Amino acid sequence: MNFNFKNKSILVTGSGSGIGRAIAMSFAIEGANVIVNDIDNNKATQTIGLIKEVGCQASMAVFDVTNIEEVEEAFRHLSVDILINNAATVPENSLFLNTPPESCDRDIQVSLYGTMNCCRAALPGMIDRSFGRIINIVSDAARAGQAREVSYSAAKGGVISFTKSLAREVGEHHITVNALSPAATNTPLRQELLKQIALQIGEEKLQIREEKIRRLYPVRRIGEVSDVSNYVMYLASDYAQFITGQIISVNGGYLMPG
Ligand SMILES: NC(=O)c1ccc[n+]([C@@H]2O[C@H](COP(=O)([O-])OP(=O)(O)OC[C@H]3O[C@@H](n4cnc5c(N)ncnc54)[C@H](O)[C@@H]3O)[C@@H](O)[C@H]2O)c1
Repeated sequence: MNFNFKNKSILVTGSGSGIGRAIAMSFAIEGANVIVNDIDNNKATQTIGLIKEVGCQASMAVFDVTNIEEVEEAFRHLSVDILINNAATVPENSLFLNTPPESCDRDIQVSLYGTMNCCRAALPGMIDRSFGRIINIVSDAARAGQAREVSYSAAKGGVISFTKSLAREVGEHHITVNALSPAATNTPLRQELLKQIALQIGEEKLQIREEKIRRLYPVRRIGEVSDVSNYVMYLASDYAQFITGQIISVNGGYLMPG
């Protein structure tokens, strides 16, 4: 499959790390004009450095996706054809009743409001140019339900509903809106979560837990960032112009929604 993103500009939120970084790098290699966003200037700078190391270019837009003024100010200076809403918080790994309301609020602010804020800022330009691709990164935690990740899952569930409804509103402008739903993926976010779990149950039990998780996957492994970035490129390409309002799991068969 040949992708051609040479005249396209793409903004990836939270691309200073993990899945977002892999997406930014994949598009840079395919010739897109990549804009790396993160709340953390150092992480965004590292991603730009990695993109330069492979002989490509990218620009940087540091802002907090939860802050609508910052988001609108950033987008005033940008033209974005492809928007990947990827920024998210690390789940608390605590039962709902032990999760403080402020943590729930943060999960919902970053995943749900962050996605809505960036769409609000990007859509007028997409409608003017009569082209757009919006891809929201959600989670199988929201599709299957996940104990100890209740507010994170709730926030992602909100993004799933937002994706479907927005797709209905903007399809006539040749703008597609889809959500890509990874299951467990090997990234710094997951490594951080594993550290928290190790503190709670110890290293030995963590390894047993990891083996049990692998067995839940028909392909007997968890995801790698490239599994996600490959599919994002497909959804952003001309091959996927008839796909909108869909929630697509990239999960090694962990969950098989009907
Ligand atoms: N890693 C997994 O196992 C997994 C599984 C399912 C879904 N996901 C989803 O994939 C996406 C990427 O996850 P990851 O594992 O690469 O995470 P990560 O923690 O490695 O990266 C997330 C990035 O978002 C940035 N960020 C956080 N708040 C922000 C804000 N307010 N504004 C801008 N940037 C902000 C962080 O600084 C970080 O660089 C997330 O949406 C996550 O929910 C991950």
